[in-house]
Amino acid sequence: MFLGLDLGTSGLKGIVINDRQEVLAEASAPLTVSRPAEGWSEQEPSHWIAAAETVLDKLAGFGLGKVQGIGLSGHMHGATLLDASDNVLRPCILWNDTRAHVEAARLDADPRFRALSGNIVFPGFTAPKLDWVRAHEPGVWAKVAKVLLPKDYLRLWLIGDHVAEMSDAAGTSWLDTGARDWSDELLAATGLSRAQMPRLVEGSAVSGVLRDTLAERWGMGRVVVAGGGGDNAASGVGVGVVRAGEAFVSLGTSGVLFAANDGYQPDPATAVHTFCHALPGSWHQMGVILAATDALNWYGRFVGQDAAALTGALGALQAPGKPLFLPYLGGERTPLNDAAIRGSFMGLEHATDTAAGTRAVLEGVTFALRDCRDALAATGTKIERLLAVGGGSRSDYWLRAIATALEVPVDLPVAGDFGGAFGAARLGLMAATGAGAEIASRPKIARSVDPDRALVDAFGAGHARFRAAQTALRGCQI
Ligand code: XUL
Repeated sequence: MFLGLDLGTSGLKGIVINDRQEVLAEASAPLTVSRPAEGWSEQEPSHWIAAAETVLDKLAGFGLGKVQGIGLSGHMHGATLLDASDNVLRPCILWNDTRAHVEAARLDADPRFRALSGNIVFPGFTAPKLDWVRAHEPGVWAKVAKVLLPKDYLRLWLIGDHVAEMSDAAGTSWLDTGARDWSDELLAATGLSRAQMPRLVEGSAVSGVLRDTLAERWGMGRVVVAGGGGDNAASGVGVGVVRAGEAFVSLGTSGVLFAANDGYQPDPATAVHTFCHALPGSWHQMGVILAATDALNWYGRFVGQDAAALTGALGALQAPGKPLFLPYLGGERTPLNDAAIRGSFMGLEHATDTAAGTRAVLEGVTFALRDCRDALAATGTKIERLLAVGGGSRSDYWLRAIATALEVPVDLPVAGDFGGAFGAARLGLMAATGAGAEIASRPKIARSVDPDRALVDAFGAGHARFRAAQTALRGCQI
């Protein structure tokens, strides 16, 4: 048996699979985000451990005695700062925190960052966060002995060692992404050194062995812990998007359009992210928007209704209406790289009701994903077909809108939103057995959603209006 643990922004999920990769058990525990100031987004690492304990307690009810390997997946870019005794120095600054936009622009202006890391230095990436801590929290900065990504802090608890893997490390701005190694030059440019970084392994390699006390607590024997992957790379492994020409869309808190590549193809100017994949010798590209289900959940709180009830009430896909929603609640990455931009509702009229608002939110996120498709196309990566993962893929209306706006069929795997946790379990299987990419097969498809041909032009026109509104919004930052 193999266990996958996915540290998501809104909850930690665990699943157990057998040798045939059948899902035997799953459990989850919720997590919340704290936003102590505008543009800030934080979590307490101790809450991740508590959530993992809850999930393992639940899974132990199904029996974990035969687990041979654990894989980890987690939200990327977070800065978890530890002192020399591994005490957490401050709450983790998360991927969707944009406080470090000044520091990010400063680092991005140093041409070595784009040249070596293959990416824009976005405010949400790890390096500018450390630069922010250096400027604003010198007492914390002085004590930083190790910088860990969120899932790698969970790993420290599991195996007692500081280890990272390539896919998540590529989102720090400190990795030489082509060479798959820390760049001493980029670390030095932020006043850090390799000694403050965890050791690097590949996602499918063994990073260490589960500590005896934990193994005993949950009735396990000797269990290896795989490198794992950043949540998107782990999802890629989970849905078999590991070869060039394969792609998926993730509708989680963030929205991601992910394409696997044959080699390393950076093109930072497009704001497309180019990272190592979680398997050795492979890379991927992705367009990332900061609010997907995050935007829908925000709207649900705004109108006092549950997100599932809102989408469930929509019926068949309609042409985009007058109301337009720009989903930039906390800034945007691809293609705008704009930490200051904020969301907007436009084109409201007397007839605009709750359902029209829901449609506008789903369309707005869909159009932002179409922007990502265009950014990927500018790098030469063409998407012909998509798999859908993440909680938002439970909305048929949303899948139909994405298929129509991006003009590609969207496949829905039978395993629903298992993406990151399932991929992590697969990486655990690889580390424990020595299996390779061949086991990362495509999932069974429950159903495919085709573009609604009658509405393709209407969605094209809707996207053109969205782009015009985006330009107007950027011209009048409020
Ligand atoms: C990717 C990104 C998000 C997080 C949270 O660059 O920031 O997708 O990993 O899911």
